[in-house]
Amino acid sequence: MKFFIDTANVQAIREAHDRGMVDGVTTNPSLVAKEGRGFKEIVLEIASFVKGPISIEVVATDYEGMMREARDLNGWIDNAAIKIPMTWDGLKAVRKCADEGIKTNVTLCFSPNQALLAAKAGATFMSPFIGRLDDVGHVGMDIIPDIVQIYSNYGYKTEIIVASIRHPVHVYEAALAGAHIATIPPDVLDKMVKHPLTDVGIEKFLADYKKIPPAAEPKKHGR
Ligand code: G3P
Repeated sequence: MKFFIDTANVQAIREAHDRGMVDGVTTNPSLVAKEGRGFKEIVLEIASFVKGPISIEVVATDYEGMMREARDLNGWIDNAAIKIPMTWDGLKAVRKCADEGIKTNVTLCFSPNQALLAAKAGATFMSPFIGRLDDVGHVGMDIIPDIVQIYSNYGYKTEIIVASIRHPVHVYEAALAGAHIATIPPDVLDKMVKHPLTDVGIEKFLADYKKIPPAAEPKKHGR
């Protein structure tokens, strides 16, 4: 399973990258706004060490505007994936981007049918937002096995990025369902490494190590 990091915080991305946890990065306007720095400056810095796809989102909502932004954003770095919202204008832009060799990530997907449309339009990636479905009383994860099955039925090459992940169980279930990618916020990644029995186990080994008597001087054997 590939891990993308869902943040625009360069330090957090670097830490996860150094631990071998970063196959790509997803950003969105809300994540970038939290950083209080310029959008392009952040993206260029991330691209200086992340070689996998970096999702950068358009803000236009019309086809022409999306295409203008997609071409511009795609020129910023070699590994851009242009995030485009799930609308008819967005899907038209996704189709055009595919024809022009621009990678895309269809964002704000909430149903298997939307996922099917994204694949049909030629999206490189498609992001179902499971946490936001949970927020409105649906079990967001329920749509993931269905999308995996639909893509497999027809051999679509579009990769599923499970997004809007809120806790480690989301990652676990996404992996069980066979999603290609989970885009994980840094705090969720930190929670995944933790287990109380690991901490207790380390403490016990260290305590027991101190009880081991010092090694006797090895005897010298004369000839
Ligand atoms: O990748 C999508 C993600 O950033 C949205 O997450 O927590 O705002 O629903 P959230």
